[in-house]
Amino acid sequence: MQTDFLVIGSGIAGLTYALKVANACPDKTITIVTKTQSDETNTKYAQGGIAAVMDFDKDSFNKHIEDTLIAGDGLCNKEIVEIVVKEGVERIQEIIEWGAQFDKDKEGGFSLGREGGHSEFRILHHKDVTGKEMERALLEAISRRPNIQMLSHCFVLDIITQHHIGFLVTKSTPDIECYGVYVLNLNTQKIEKISSPLTLLATGGNGQVYRTTTNPGIATGDGVAMVYRAKGRIENMEFIQFHPTALYEPGVRGHSFLITEAVRGDGGILRNQEGDAFMVRYDARKDLAPRDIVARAIDNEMKINGTEHVYLDCRHFSKEKFIEHFPNIYEKCLSIGIDIQQHMIPVAPAAHYSCGGIKTDEWGRTSIKNLYAAGECASTGLHGANRLASNSLLEAMVFAHRAYQQSVVAINEATPTTSSSISNYLKVGLDEIPSWKSEGTNVPKEMILITQSVKELKLLMSDYVGIVRNNERLYRAMKRIDLLYEETEALYEKTSVSPQLCELRNMITVAYLIVKCADFRQESRGLHFNTDYPNRSERTQNIVL
Ligand code: FAD
Ligand code: SIN
Repeated sequence: MQTDFLVIGSGIAGLTYALKVANACPDKTITIVTKTQSDETNTKYAQGGIAAVMDFDKDSFNKHIEDTLIAGDGLCNKEIVEIVVKEGVERIQEIIEWGAQFDKDKEGGFSLGREGGHSEFRILHHKDVTGKEMERALLEAISRRPNIQMLSHCFVLDIITQHHIGFLVTKSTPDIECYGVYVLNLNTQKIEKISSPLTLLATGGNGQVYRTTTNPGIATGDGVAMVYRAKGRIENMEFIQFHPTALYEPGVRGHSFLITEAVRGDGGILRNQEGDAFMVRYDARKDLAPRDIVARAIDNEMKINGTEHVYLDCRHFSKEKFIEHFPNIYEKCLSIGIDIQQHMIPVAPAAHYSCGGIKTDEWGRTSIKNLYAAGECASTGLHGANRLASNSLLEAMVFAHRAYQQSVVAINEATPTTSSSISNYLKVGLDEIPSWKSEGTNVPKEMILITQSVKELKLLMSDYVGIVRNNERLYRAMKRIDLLYEETEALYEKTSVSPQLCELRNMITVAYLIVKCADFRQESRGLHFNTDYPNRSERTQNIVL
């Protein structure tokens, strides 16, 4: 199959890009590939909202920029921060025009929330289900575009480069080019190739690498792993953000329910087992300090008290007000016997967001030609060492837009006779790209070989590469990852591909990249805290693999 624009992922980044390209190029075809149903994305679970300066009387671009830079702990690219903060407002207007609704106050202005690290109220939200509303609006707008086709339940295995047409490709190959992807179509169980002059990776995060995460099952870091295999550049993977307040439910591990930071923004107080409001001992901003500080404080309190969680106290809230802003959380708590007016909510940190990822420039271009990346899988320079709450939906829309602008220029300029990477694609032709080779492989006889390795990986990442790290833990983690890698590659050689096997392989790669970057960063900064190097170093540097 051939398509003019290929989009991998149907979250906010992929859908925004697809919609924009479709509007600008009605005569071109756009194909979105997504590995389960189209709305199963991190985007759908976003609760708190999207940060943007909307009230220019009280707030300003400079304040939002400053808050982002402070959270990023010296590693943000200031130029990128300015781009996102300033262009974000226009992107929000667009999604409102496409049908997304944000809560309003009594005067008819936007009801703006506040979260950790924000000096002003600037979070637009749709109750506590903002992502679901944005995903709904985008999918509905997409369904009205005849030139977009959505291929759901199609698992992308790898991106196609010169490597697949017989050339040696290494990290130092100067012009690696992307010609499309190989896809396992789960509807037919066939492996197909989709070729395209332009591909956008919008494959989201990797929280599933950890035992407890707010991310759904799809978040296995596939895009990052694919780019790494294709010899593209990956950056700052050590900065994994742990959300301080995932709901603690004994026995629930894979996908934890989030208690949005907006609850603390509205006055929720963290307390330990003794009822002590401990954040006052850690930071002057108390419960609304940036996430790295709050998560580390909770981790410390849990270790001191030997407990698996702390509490979020909302008993002083007006019930009506709580239900009005957080109906989903209210219902969820009630469903497990927690009445927020009588009981405190048990919460613990959980892996939440990957600040690093596929390295891109200010137009969403990766180090591989014809390949763009946007959203959580990308490392644009916005977040630095720690993402400011509610900046990721904004970043995804801004970079989907920038990638769209560049893609349209690139595709319109290219002809088979000019010398550009797209022209090379036009010369390669679909027939030269070989079909996926599956000779000599068999259906796996024992799924336990995959599921047990997934469990081991999650456990070792949570225990050794979590909120607090040290050199010994990182060393042990790497040794175990090496073993899992060898075993899984051997299995991969002789087994027909399945999403479970490929996700395991991708998660092992992502875990390797997190540990490798953590090992290189010999300091503590933002989300990366290593007790052997407890201080920030003088030099600020990105780690690029
Ligand atoms: P996603 O929305 O995760 O979409 C990824 C897509 O890629 C999916 O469609 C998936 O199927 C597809 N995909 C992945 N691998 C493959 C493959 N191999 N083949 C085919 N398809 C593939 N951010 C905020 O700014 N504000 C918030 O309030 C907020 N709250 C959050 C709450 C929760 C519980 C979580 C988990 C995250 C939250 N975030 C929030 C972060 C934010 O939601 C995500 O960073 C953002 O939605 C990512 O969007 P995306 O388009 O990059 O990826
Ligand atoms: C939340 O609602 O607390 C999550 C916000 C975010 O991750 O940006």
